[in-house]
Amino acid sequence: MKNLKLIGPFKQLVTMANLPLKGALKDEQLEILADVGILMENGIIQKIGDFDKLVSEASKTTVHIKLEGNHVGLPGFIDAHTHICFGGTRAKDYAMRNAGKTYLEIAKAGGGIWDTVTETRKASSEELIKKTIKRAQQHLKNGVTTVEVKSGYGLSVNEELKMLRAIKKANTDIAIDLIATCLAAHMKPKDFSGSHAEYLAEISSSLFPILKEEKLANRIDAFIEESAFSREDIRPYFSKAKAMGFDITVHADQFSTGGSATAIEFDALSADHLEASTDKEIALLAKSNVIATALPGASLGLGCAFTPARKLLDAGCCLAIASDHNPGSAPMGDLLTQAAILQSFEKLSNAEVLAGITYRAAAALHLKDRGEIKEGFLADLALFHTDNYNEILYHQGSFKPCMVFKNGNLVYDKHS
Ligand code: NIG
Ligand code: FE
Repeated sequence: MKNLKLIGPFKQLVTMANLPLKGALKDEQLEILADVGILMENGIIQKIGDFDKLVSEASKTTVHIKLEGNHVGLPGFIDAHTHICFGGTRAKDYAMRNAGKTYLEIAKAGGGIWDTVTETRKASSEELIKKTIKRAQQHLKNGVTTVEVKSGYGLSVNEELKMLRAIKKANTDIAIDLIATCLAAHMKPKDFSGSHAEYLAEISSSLFPILKEEKLANRIDAFIEESAFSREDIRPYFSKAKAMGFDITVHADQFSTGGSATAIEFDALSADHLEASTDKEIALLAKSNVIATALPGASLGLGCAFTPARKLLDAGCCLAIASDHNPGSAPMGDLLTQAAILQSFEKLSNAEVLAGITYRAAAALHLKDRGEIKEGFLADLALFHTDNYNEILYHQGSFKPCMVFKNGNLVYDKHS
């Protein structure tokens, strides 16, 4: 059965279509359509055009969603890096950090990633599913219609499976799309007696085949950092992942450089963080196809420098912006607010910021059916009650969407 819906009129439809994947963008490059409607069939955009004309052409069975007052429409936002499946809280870490304690002191006092691993292992599958759904719903209200979710707080074959199965189940229970990533290489678990290399060998030989069998994740991530894994540790791990057909992504250059070079070496989809990247890393990234993902939420949570987004774009990189929503370094989990703050500090155009949370974020997740408002694309939309798209980032995230559509369905309505 054809399920036809016509929505409009939009005062402005910012389609994010026909823009380059890489490099700096000017607002003048944005396609902004005035007084248009969107006709969708079974959740897919079928036609975009003059609203009155679409109304006059509509068939009898078409459902009309008439927008009263001025509305601006954007593609549903895509958050390409989060860790929203976890147990416990790290509020104590945050307070200690702000009281001047170092990362090491916090870890010694029982904090850090391992604390979340302990709490996540304690949580039942049902609890993890519930918590993931609750956090994902919050993102949906903020206009996010696709969110990537990493494992990495299980850190054993069985506990990683518990997390990834919980993410898969949560995905079937909510409207927002969850894209799972295996981050078993987050740190070497404290209860594993072997070496870093031995831990990774166990994960790749025992966990990777199950990820394929149960379709739990297509993506493998690793944290390359002094406190986590070295470039040498990760080489055989990523080689195995690539040979099995997984997409690669890297937590790179967060406190020290090196991770971005590994991302390039393995033709990763993205290198995320990059707060420590220097001109050398930026130049190499710009020559590659690796997408640079800025995580302003981690800079805000840790009180440290932002990813050099301006330099990355000027060098010719593709820049995505994600929330990194996690209990340790980025507890806020508000993508639009963080993207707007990054914009102000890094002097980014509206086009660059919106690209970073729409079609460029889609590319970071290897998704070709979303991130633009275009025929044949998913009808994922974030609507704002205003007559000008400039108002959205200007309010630095406090101006929230009034409606969100996922696959053509109204999944959030501020007024109901
Ligand atoms: O992306 N950098 C490593 N991993 C996370 C933090 C996870 C945590 O502290 O729980 C990040 O910032
Ligand atoms: Fe992260």
